[in-house]
Amino acid sequence: MLQTFKRASTEALAEIAEEKKIRKTNELILLFSMGSQFDHLIKQKLDSLGVFCLVADPASVKAQDVKDLSPTGIILSGGPASAHAEPPPFDRDIFDLGIPTLGVCLGYQTWAYYAGVPVTSSDKREFGTHLFTHDGKSPLFDGLPLQFKVLESHGDKIHADSKLTIFGTTEHAPAAAGNFKHLWGVQFHPEVTETEYGDKIYENFCFKICGAKDKFPSAEMAEKKIAELKNQIAGKNVLLALSGGTDSSTVAYLLKHSLSEGAKIHGVYIKGIDRPEDEAHVEKYFGKENWLTIKIVDATDKFLAALAGKIGMKEKRIAMRGIYKEILEAEAKEFKADFIAQGTLYTDISESGGGYDSGARKAEIKIHHNVNLNFSIPELQPLADCVKDTGRNIGRALGTPEDLLHRHPFPGPGLVVRIEGEITKEKLKIARAADAIYMEELRNWNLYQTIWQAGAVVTNSVTTCTKGDDAAEGYVVALWAVWSVNGFTARAADLPHDFLSSVARRITNEIREAGAVVYRISDKPPVTIEWG
Ligand code: XMP
Repeated sequence: MLQTFKRASTEALAEIAEEKKIRKTNELILLFSMGSQFDHLIKQKLDSLGVFCLVADPASVKAQDVKDLSPTGIILSGGPASAHAEPPPFDRDIFDLGIPTLGVCLGYQTWAYYAGVPVTSSDKREFGTHLFTHDGKSPLFDGLPLQFKVLESHGDKIHADSKLTIFGTTEHAPAAAGNFKHLWGVQFHPEVTETEYGDKIYENFCFKICGAKDKFPSAEMAEKKIAELKNQIAGKNVLLALSGGTDSSTVAYLLKHSLSEGAKIHGVYIKGIDRPEDEAHVEKYFGKENWLTIKIVDATDKFLAALAGKIGMKEKRIAMRGIYKEILEAEAKEFKADFIAQGTLYTDISESGGGYDSGARKAEIKIHHNVNLNFSIPELQPLADCVKDTGRNIGRALGTPEDLLHRHPFPGPGLVVRIEGEITKEKLKIARAADAIYMEELRNWNLYQTIWQAGAVVTNSVTTCTKGDDAAEGYVVALWAVWSVNGFTARAADLPHDFLSSVARRITNEIREAGAVVYRISDKPPVTIEWG
């Protein structure tokens, strides 16, 4: 099935007709991906509702293509552009087709601007969770309480204009939900977990506003993926980048179930910018298995040499990726691998500026270590269409040990993104020690499983200390912890003060070079989960 709808060509229409036949439906929701970090979450919401959702490229799809396709409804995602200052590519004639349309954030601003409603930059930008109040009159919010929490991330504002029927507001968004003819819009993001009742909002749009009726039960994802992998691997060798984390472990189990006569799996764990805990995990869970072999490659010196003199996070990420690729290429050669497999998630691809093949500008938030590496042999990334929680569910269905699935995510670039400034042996040692204390205390206080991810950062700030009656200087260590579901959005975890004090006391006492400890309280957005 085609990934992104670009034009109503004969081939594209034939493929869509085939998919409709399989799903026994004539319905389809067209999702214009306007460059949002969350576009895939909208697709996943619709997938889980059993609705056929086709992602479309706003830069190439014209009104005539939409007419030919005749979708049941249209959704315009958010995006980094501005409807008035830097309009995203989109054929406005599509709005004249009379097809029920839901605009999310930028999508809403785009149709509002087209309808002649003033859209301007706002003095009071809204990022994060806000309280949304509605009047109970919109079918979009049918069955929902009159107030609920929503996640907003916008710098532009839609003015309360007489053309609009306004259904709801937030503190700084006077038209947080509005309607004009067949066009509906919300200034917030119903697709992220921080927005309450988001599933219901998409359900109301599809079934109440667009009048869709058919639901196609989502196919058993794991089985589908295994069938695809079996076909691809068929007796060949796979080199797997194994980190001990949830995603690469789930890929290992997918590969295990896809093994056929003659095929072999060889896992490689790269050491150097990691935590001792991760290496031990790989040894414990994969070291004694008979369906794969594993090798630990110590790349400490290579990483340190490549990172020497690099200060900015982006240049450090690029240097780290270089070594990661070099080692996997060398191992693949030695093992005579036909494929290199990685646990890449859609989140990694999307944040690296990739994702759906759409002409809309998409921001590169950060280059993830595992994306676009252009290996000399083909890659297998069976979780590339999943986010963290859907990947975890696949892992669970395959019998991946819960201990591996329940671990906090740890980023591929490891401690590199948890150290400010140049990476040195000393800073790596401090980062490891701070992380070990933080994780140990989270477990001691039974807090580890109550949060999604936590990390300790060695900042470049130095504070004056007095240790043992003497003057000293020490690094400021920043702790963070978040609640999230899929990593696209996150909320700073509200950790007990007593707990934070005890971690701070241990870090400053047990790590000679640590001067002070601070706790980050920002949500994503605006901040990203990792420091770098
Ligand atoms: P950010 O920091 O972008 O992180 O909000 C979202 C999630 O992704 C993890 N992360 C990475 N994972 N390679 C990875 O495999 C990377 O380059 C990378 N950067 C961030 C991060 O730990 C969080 O869970």
